[in-house]
Amino acid sequence: MKDSKQGKKPGLRARIKNGISMPIAHKLVLSFILVSILSTAIFTYTGIRLMANRIVAETQDRIRNDLNAAREIYTGEARHINDVVRLNARRPIIQEALLNGDSENIENDLINVKESEALDFLTLTDEYGNVIMRTNFPYHSGDNLAEDAVINTVMNNKVTVNATTIIPQEELQAESSVLAEKARFNIIDTPMARPSTKSEETSGMAIVSASPVFDDGQNLIGILYGGLLLNKNYELVDKVKQTVFQNVVYKGKDIGTATIFQDDVRISTNVLNTDGSRAIGTRIAEDVYDVVITQGEPWMGRAYVVNDWYITAYEPIRNVSGAVIGILYVGILEQKYLDIRNQAVMAFGIISLIVILFSIGLSYFLSRSISVPVHRLVLASKELSNGNLDAKVEKTSNDEIGILADSFNSMANALRERDDQLKEFTRRKFMESERLALIGQLAANVAHELNNPLQGIVTYSHLLLERNNIDNPTQQLLQKVVVQANRSRDIIRGLLDFSRQRKPDKTLCNINNLLQESLSFLENQALMHNIELVTQFENDLPSIVIDPSQVQRVFINMIVNASEAMNGNGRLTMTTRRFSETDSIEIVFSDTGTGIPEENLEKIFDPFFTTKETGHGVGLGLAISYGIIKEHGGTISVESEVGKGTSFHIRLPISTDTVYSEDGKPA
Ligand SMILES: Nc1ncnc2c1ncn2[C@@H]1O[C@H](COP(=O)(O)OP(=O)(O)OP(=O)(O)O)[C@@H](O)[C@H]1O
Ligand SMILES: [Mg+2]
Repeated sequence: MKDSKQGKKPGLRARIKNGISMPIAHKLVLSFILVSILSTAIFTYTGIRLMANRIVAETQDRIRNDLNAAREIYTGEARHINDVVRLNARRPIIQEALLNGDSENIENDLINVKESEALDFLTLTDEYGNVIMRTNFPYHSGDNLAEDAVINTVMNNKVTVNATTIIPQEELQAESSVLAEKARFNIIDTPMARPSTKSEETSGMAIVSASPVFDDGQNLIGILYGGLLLNKNYELVDKVKQTVFQNVVYKGKDIGTATIFQDDVRISTNVLNTDGSRAIGTRIAEDVYDVVITQGEPWMGRAYVVNDWYITAYEPIRNVSGAVIGILYVGILEQKYLDIRNQAVMAFGIISLIVILFSIGLSYFLSRSISVPVHRLVLASKELSNGNLDAKVEKTSNDEIGILADSFNSMANALRERDDQLKEFTRRKFMESERLALIGQLAANVAHELNNPLQGIVTYSHLLLERNNIDNPTQQLLQKVVVQANRSRDIIRGLLDFSRQRKPDKTLCNINNLLQESLSFLENQALMHNIELVTQFENDLPSIVIDPSQVQRVFINMIVNASEAMNGNGRLTMTTRRFSETDSIEIVFSDTGTGIPEENLEKIFDPFFTTKETGHGVGLGLAISYGIIKEHGGTISVESEVGKGTSFHIRLPISTDTVYSEDGKPA
């Protein structure tokens, strides 16, 4: 069945496996950008977080201090009232007036004290809390203040009491309608404020002090009771704003604000409504109320005050019995710190952007500095592979790419040199073979021409020798003629063999047998008598297709050369084996003869190269052998060490078409 996916583009997985083909420069730029964006993002995030946390911590510290300062101002005021009331209660004039019952005497005096010390009321009662004298018009007297918590405490404990207290409307009314009116205001709804059913506030909150008046016998004869109504009294909060926040204005708004709450309602504040009026009558946020009023704990944090976000601190104001009746508040406009934070974020953002842009530039530059030389290398290697061996790469740096460029250039150089050498070698070889062909031609002609006359010389000198009537010296001379003529005939035959372009007459042959046969031809010769012959034949060599007489000639040449090199004394080892690498049969002739000097190794296969004395060697044996082996598609090579011996390796290919068994029949 045919694969249904055949012909489709490779899938994503395959593409990923093969590597997405993206230029190296893009990969570098991309990874650089990723790294820089990631690190800058982390850097920016942590930087902003740290900075924001720092700012929050700073502002909380500051607001805590500001609240302390505000409390200090508040208690300072309370102390002042306390001092005024306490000191006046000790004045003999008061004591006398109480003892004598003539309060008119001190009326002006106490009015003066109230005015000069900026109190809202200063009232004298007897030891039972009955009002003897008031300093506010219309100077009501005769009512009883024993129910008032502060007066009550003084009556019971006979000590000065200094406290913040809630004064009910009737008591305020008794004091003066002006005061009652000052305390009263409507409750206003603001966003996020605590919901309430009340629409009006009629009681008042005051910082008060009540001090006992004693007679000389330390008996309580009266109480002096003075105080400052906090409702719509802005002196305290403005003093806080001035001393703590130095009246600093930020974007048209007071940076710092202070407020005094009566329960949950602002009775004295410099927080402003949108219309610019003081936010009197507005109420606290519910969550803050729960903590400060209900639980009696201070509260610190972001809060929405009237119509802006502030960083705030609230703490409870308690009455004489410790119950929470109000709150002291300070707040700093959050906007300023938001702006600082935003500026910091902006600065961080800009820095990050610059860093990213810079790193993009840098990565582009760096990647180019890598990719451009790599690209050049790629181009040069393409040129090289197309055959231009003059291809070169310019070295532009000393780094690995520089080293690569150097290596490339030296590789190209080496290739060029090799190429030149190869060209020179083939040229020489070509000339040599031309020369050899010429020599061969010449030799063949000369040999052919000389063959017949020489044949005549041999025949006639034999005929002469056969005559009986020749004397001894003549016979000796004739014998020399025969020897030399035979020798000349041998040379001529060699020459003819060498030059003859005879095609080999090939049949299936077993190399081991052929070699054994060649040995038996020579064994009986005198030169071989003292030579140890060692044969190491591999047993099941396949038979191969060769011209047996030609190959035997090669073997005989090898054995004779070895015997001559050993001067008839030594060991000749003949090895046959299957050489699987080139699928051929290898025949090795190793002797322990004189060896061949290095400088001769190249020449021994040349025709007429011989080191043997004249008359002993023509120098054609190896040249002919070489030609025969080549004709058979084989190789012949030599290894030699002077003084130790020589090994000739002959390799003849096994026919790949047919594999033959040992007995010569196809397997
Ligand atoms: N086994 C060997 N050990 C040492 N030298 C050798 C050996 N075989 C060949 N040679 C060297 O190679 C030369 C050439 O050998 P080659 O057989 O071609 O010629 P030759 O033996 O000198 O003469 P001939 O034509 O009679 O064979 C020899 O003269 C000899 O110097
Ligand atoms: Mg020879």
